[in-house]
Amino acid sequence: MQLTDFFQFHAPTKIVYGPGLARDLEAELNDLKARRIFVITDNHVQQMDFYQETIDGINRTGAQVVGVFSDVPANSGLKTVKQGATLGSELEADSILAIGGGSVIDTAKGVNAEMSLAGDLMTDFCGTHTMPHPLNPLIVIPTTAGTGSEVTLVAVIMNEEEKTKMAFVDRYLVPNLAVLDPEVTLSMPPYLTASTGMDAMAHAVEAYLGVDASPYSDALALQAMVMIRDNIVKACQDGQNIEARGNMLVASNLAGVAFSHSMVGVGHGMAHSCGGLCGVPHGVANHILLPYAMRYNLNACEDRLGVLARLFFIKGTGLTGRELAEKAIDAVFELQRELARGAGMPVRLSQVGVKEKDLPEIATATLSDGTCIYNPREVVYEEVLQSLKEAF
Ligand SMILES: [Fe+2]
Repeated sequence: MQLTDFFQFHAPTKIVYGPGLARDLEAELNDLKARRIFVITDNHVQQMDFYQETIDGINRTGAQVVGVFSDVPANSGLKTVKQGATLGSELEADSILAIGGGSVIDTAKGVNAEMSLAGDLMTDFCGTHTMPHPLNPLIVIPTTAGTGSEVTLVAVIMNEEEKTKMAFVDRYLVPNLAVLDPEVTLSMPPYLTASTGMDAMAHAVEAYLGVDASPYSDALALQAMVMIRDNIVKACQDGQNIEARGNMLVASNLAGVAFSHSMVGVGHGMAHSCGGLCGVPHGVANHILLPYAMRYNLNACEDRLGVLARLFFIKGTGLTGRELAEKAIDAVFELQRELARGAGMPVRLSQVGVKEKDLPEIATATLSDGTCIYNPREVVYEEVLQSLKEAF
């Protein structure tokens, strides 16, 4: 492969995997010297059996849960972060445990920044690498298999007033510990399993096609794609399949490390804009838009899309490079249809609340999304609008 002039790989999060692990965190909490733990979660997770078992498990150790903030909505915003940080500071917490999906984890990152640094997240730390020193320990138990946020340096948080999703990127936002316990994902319904799983697939594919891809991110992205390819339908069909759940959780994590290094591209740019302007859930938007984003990049990534085609068991005999690349896009469309049949996933933007009149505004917002910098082809308005029309 042709190597870029410069790349680096730094994955500081400790990752532990094991069914039932969330109930026994004593050794990990001791390592981190976490004693006064502030839990951030959502109302849905709080009702689940494993949640109370996790809290009880912590309180049996030398540490204690000093408080819980569970008012985290699906597309969490700056106001929620502010509320959480105020409560966490009043409780004099020395560490944070996030238990939930992407919204909870990103909220916890924002809360941790506000609690650990003197300043306001939006005013003082917006942008990239603005934080002056490490934050308090952040432990994450992801309850969905998709965002990879438990290992990334990114927090995507809604600016409620401007209806845009803000991306905070900082090496200090990376969690200290990711606890991958497939048992906590068992109750995810097929729809959520499919949408979060396709978000992870989009992370892996876009990380692999992006301009900052390196042999390190490639290795993780390709392994993530294989594990998702083999397990996403199984996990939707049988939610209690612990092996499929474990594979999806690890794949999501691998894809998270991959895209934390090589970032994502125009597919995520469009998905962020659909989320900010029309409220389309992140995983659903990525599920719909991923094959269109691959098609957008066809001219720039023929060879790499050819690799993905073989990953989807397509034999290249007699096909040109371009035909093989197109087969990779077809394979993702086929996976989309399979998840539509098996998990009720929508396949068009018109099915998820986007109106045709919204498309120009979504295209405009996509152009100013930070992810487009890493896309392998220049992101231009007319072509993004065309992709959105095709996905509509
Ligand atoms: Fe994503």
